[in-house]
Amino acid sequence: MHSSSAACWLQIFLFFFFIVVSFLSSEGVNAAPAVKVGGSISKVEAAVNFHIYYGQTFKVIKNAIDGRSYLLLQNNSRIATRTKYCTSRIKSFVVPLSNYSVDTDFFPVSFFELLGLLGSLKGITSDSVASQCILKLYEAGEIEIINKDDQQKLAEFAAHFFSNTDQQQGCNFATFVPFAEDTPLQRAEWIKFLGVFANLEDRANQVYTTVKENYLCLAKIATTRTSFKPIVAWMDYSNGAWSFTKETYKLKYVEDAGGENIYGSINKITYNVSNPDDLDELHAILCTVEVVIDETLTSDPDNYTLSTFLQNINVEDNSCFGFLANKSLWRYDKRTQNSTTLDWYNGAVSQPQLVLADLIEVLFPTGNFTTTYFRNLPKEEGVISIGPQMCERDTFSAMEPTIIACG
Ligand SMILES: *[C@@H]1O[C@H](CO)[C@@H](O)[C@H](O)[C@H]1NC(C)=O
Ligand SMILES: *[C@@H]1O[C@H](CO)[C@@H](O)[C@H](O)[C@H]1NC(C)=O
Ligand SMILES: *[C@@H]1O[C@H](CO)[C@@H](O)[C@H](O)[C@H]1NC(C)=O
Ligand SMILES: *[C@@H]1O[C@H](CO)[C@@H](O)[C@H](O)[C@H]1NC(C)=O
Ligand SMILES: *[C@@H]1O[C@H](CO)[C@@H](O)[C@H](O)[C@H]1NC(C)=O
Ligand SMILES: *[C@@H]1O[C@H](CO)[C@@H](O)[C@H](O)[C@H]1NC(C)=O
Ligand SMILES: *[C@@H]1O[C@H](CO)[C@@H](O)[C@H](O)[C@H]1NC(C)=O
Repeated sequence: MHSSSAACWLQIFLFFFFIVVSFLSSEGVNAAPAVKVGGSISKVEAAVNFHIYYGQTFKVIKNAIDGRSYLLLQNNSRIATRTKYCTSRIKSFVVPLSNYSVDTDFFPVSFFELLGLLGSLKGITSDSVASQCILKLYEAGEIEIINKDDQQKLAEFAAHFFSNTDQQQGCNFATFVPFAEDTPLQRAEWIKFLGVFANLEDRANQVYTTVKENYLCLAKIATTRTSFKPIVAWMDYSNGAWSFTKETYKLKYVEDAGGENIYGSINKITYNVSNPDDLDELHAILCTVEVVIDETLTSDPDNYTLSTFLQNINVEDNSCFGFLANKSLWRYDKRTQNSTTLDWYNGAVSQPQLVLADLIEVLFPTGNFTTTYFRNLPKEEGVISIGPQMCERDTFSAMEPTIIACG
């Protein structure tokens, strides 16, 4: 009795020792795994907010955003049956996960679809999900809705994934934060984070590589084919003022699509339309812009039209607005579910090549390409409402990334 418990403590000690040593030795470098690895592995290439380390019967994910580490124990290892961590720094999970739940609040569920993991998704916190196939599974009773405050219920799943880092955390909670990354490809690489929980490293690597190659191919063509770089403004209206975005991944999209951001040429971000000086300045800026992306939040995207934009801009004479003359005013709410949940925060995160292809059409229109996420306000393009009837693939098989013709 006594000696076996001592052995157990020794094992725990060695675990911590290994984790500390591997973090210290491989932090920031592309170090080889310290121990021989049985299956396939994922290496993080571009993303900066998570790291993966491999042991023989376990793996460690370190999440740089909240400083937490997840110790993933292979379900067929002895250690998995004996060991459980739940401290403020380390949590353990048995992998592959037998099931999981998701806090749907701004959670890009499409990553699970690309991995083919909808079969073990058993709980969601609401039916506000911009995924036709998850809605279909929910309708068929395969997925239940759980109250996000019901800690006892949430604890029943092998893991509960969520994106909102402010939330109170249970022992089975894992934080998934692709939104913290600065570039579209860094965000897409978070598929590897989820793949590790399912021993699906090969699939995650394959999807990421496919997405990346398509993205880079589109970017290469877009940025080499022309010397004319249209000037683009991402802007949103709130509380009587317009603000230009400084979010890096959006600025990066514009650069990669062959455009130029107005952000680099303005003195300030926010312009109050009830302040005459601000309004003048806003007016002048908009006269220099070729493309506008209106990001204004609305509870009713269907009803957000060109006239809503003009009303919010509050400029009487818009004759100098080239983006209006050229019908180059867009929003990214083309795919929405029940009005308020945008696929922009879901599918667009895991498949940035689709967004880039959209933006290339937005900046250099051919009239020959149907955009996925962007709709044109002057052309009165409407919203597509996502519903369960739109799910056409086998829900339990993996969704394939959409490859855009390039070259
Ligand atoms: C481990 O996971 C695999 C794949 O889900 C499963 O087939 C197997 O039964 C599990 N083994 C144990 C001991 O739980
Ligand atoms: C999820 O898997 C765990 C074992 O890891 C099991 O105890 C639990 O009943 C499962 N929950 C659901 C909702 O399937
Ligand atoms: C804009 O100005 C109006 C009037 O001065 C004020 O009520 C409003 O709060 C301002 N909006 C912002 C975002 O500062
Ligand atoms: C549409 O928006 C306008 C304001 O832009 C508002 O007056 C109208 O009530 C809205 N219609 C619906 C059906 O919500
Ligand atoms: C309209 O767009 C074309 C390129 O697509 C550009 O050459 C032209 O200057 C634009 N017109 C205005 C008024 O901005
Ligand atoms: C849509 O959202 C509204 C309010 O958020 C809710 O009352 C309604 O039940 C939802 N409808 C569907 C079909 O999800
Ligand atoms: C539009 O697409 C068709 C086939 O996809 C192609 O043959 C045609 O050249 C394209 N037209 C333009 C203007 O790009």
